[in-house]
Amino acid sequence: MSIHVKQDWWETLFDDIYLLTDARSVCDDNITCREVDLVCELLSISKDQNILDLCGGHGRHSFELFARGYKNCTLLDYSQYLVDQAKAYAAKNNISIDIIRSDARRTKLPTESFDHVCIMGNSLGYINDNNADSLIINEANRLLCPGGKLLVDITDGDYVLKSFNPIAWHEIGDDTVVCRQRELHNGSIHAREMVLSKTNGLVRDENYSIRLYNESSIHSLLDKAGFCEIKIHKGFSAHRLKGDYGFMNNRMIATCKK
Ligand SMILES: C[S@@+](CC[C@H](N)C(=O)[O-])C[C@H]1O[C@@H](n2cnc3c(N)ncnc32)[C@H](O)[C@@H]1O
Repeated sequence: MSIHVKQDWWETLFDDIYLLTDARSVCDDNITCREVDLVCELLSISKDQNILDLCGGHGRHSFELFARGYKNCTLLDYSQYLVDQAKAYAAKNNISIDIIRSDARRTKLPTESFDHVCIMGNSLGYINDNNADSLIINEANRLLCPGGKLLVDITDGDYVLKSFNPIAWHEIGDDTVVCRQRELHNGSIHAREMVLSKTNGLVRDENYSIRLYNESSIHSLLDKAGFCEIKIHKGFSAHRLKGDYGFMNNRMIATCKK
């Protein structure tokens, strides 16, 4: 049976259950630290510069950057649930960063207001419109000061295709199992995700899709938006153990300059 994906799935799927199903990647401080180590190494940010964590989810990279003394971070995400989580965490821990709910394709933030923009944790390729990622990258370009840097952390599509796994499952604690069925569709992966809890029964049965990029297509996306000095670093994984971590196993880190 073919996995059919609703147009607007990405508007609602990034919720409390996402934080559970993807906890191995997005709720592990060691992993976030390794990712932020890489951001600091590749971008050479100075402490007074403005950083935008675009599609930043519940803010793990912004909070780690803030803890390292990069106080001028802005977190932006579309998910109301994740933005609320980030606001609650920031308030509880006295973290004074801007946290904004907006669409990364048209943020309404002022032009040339950031020195660095980071798009972390495989956050492109979700919207079922081939032009959507271009709009996000163009928006990043608009928001950057001249000479500002963009970093995009995205799954390596060639690796995903080479190691394609049509069925994957993992357990979360004693209660929950996450089952994923995947299909290849024209350069995208369609997935059905079922989440079963011993106490609560079936808590999720949703489909989603992700458009894949390889070295050449991510280069071309950045180039078309007008970026220069494009470098693609391949083979990054913040995970130390082998396993199927969805799209977080083997990533490309692209950096470029406005
Ligand atoms: C896999 S999560 C990664 C989140 C975060 N960067 C991290 O690494 O923890 C992808 C995020 O992209 C966000 N996102 C996707 N498309 C977006 C858009 N058009 N505007 C704003 N956020 C978007 C989702 O809401 C989600 O939080």
